[in-house]
Amino acid sequence: MSGTCLEQLDTRLATAPIVPLIAENDAERAVETALALKAGGLSVIEVVLRSENALAGLDAIRCADADLIVGAGTVLTLDQLAAARSAGAQFIVSPGLLDPIAELCLAENIPVFPGVMTAGEVQRAYAMGLRTVKFFPASLAGGVPMLKAFAAVFRDMRFMPTGGISAGNLVDYLALPSVLACGGSWLTPRGAEPEVTQGLAREALAIAATARPSG
Ligand code: 3PG
Repeated sequence: MSGTCLEQLDTRLATAPIVPLIAENDAERAVETALALKAGGLSVIEVVLRSENALAGLDAIRCADADLIVGAGTVLTLDQLAAARSAGAQFIVSPGLLDPIAELCLAENIPVFPGVMTAGEVQRAYAMGLRTVKFFPASLAGGVPMLKAFAAVFRDMRFMPTGGISAGNLVDYLALPSVLACGGSWLTPRGAEPEVTQGLAREALAIAATARPSG
């Protein structure tokens, strides 16, 4: 993704600060889910690499709708990074901070969200030049109070909390100015009909509008 696409990602997340996760082994189901999310107003999607066919799903989503911004999540190794890029991933998410993955993405201008959960990890990411990180697993890593503490010292770092986010606590996370967007799987329950997924996306957007009236 070029610098311009990075701006597109920022712009989308400014208006709809939610990144739903798709964890589907079936590519057709992955596409159906992505299109339902888009119909509900969410067009930045993370396909997690947790099944054999996840990358086929990512590729299929990209082919099905060029307007979606589709990233790869659960990227654990450089090999997975290469495979995700070949499949068309437009951004990369990892549960932790692996320097070679972050460095390669930074060097090649690929938006990357490595996971952090301690001040030391945030500081290391900051020193590498990263200004946006995933906060994972958000609910276990201290949740909203921890993010407030981070924001006080890492003043220009933005966070994407993920892990334990739901319609019930989304508003609390999105109320924090340091939160770029919230990620999660609550929007894509296994086996859900497209109408259900679409409804969950709409509900999340309505919550976001409450948390950020001017967004
Ligand atoms: C992730 O990979 O970010 C998490 O597994 C998402 O956590 P959740 O399932 O609690 O949303």
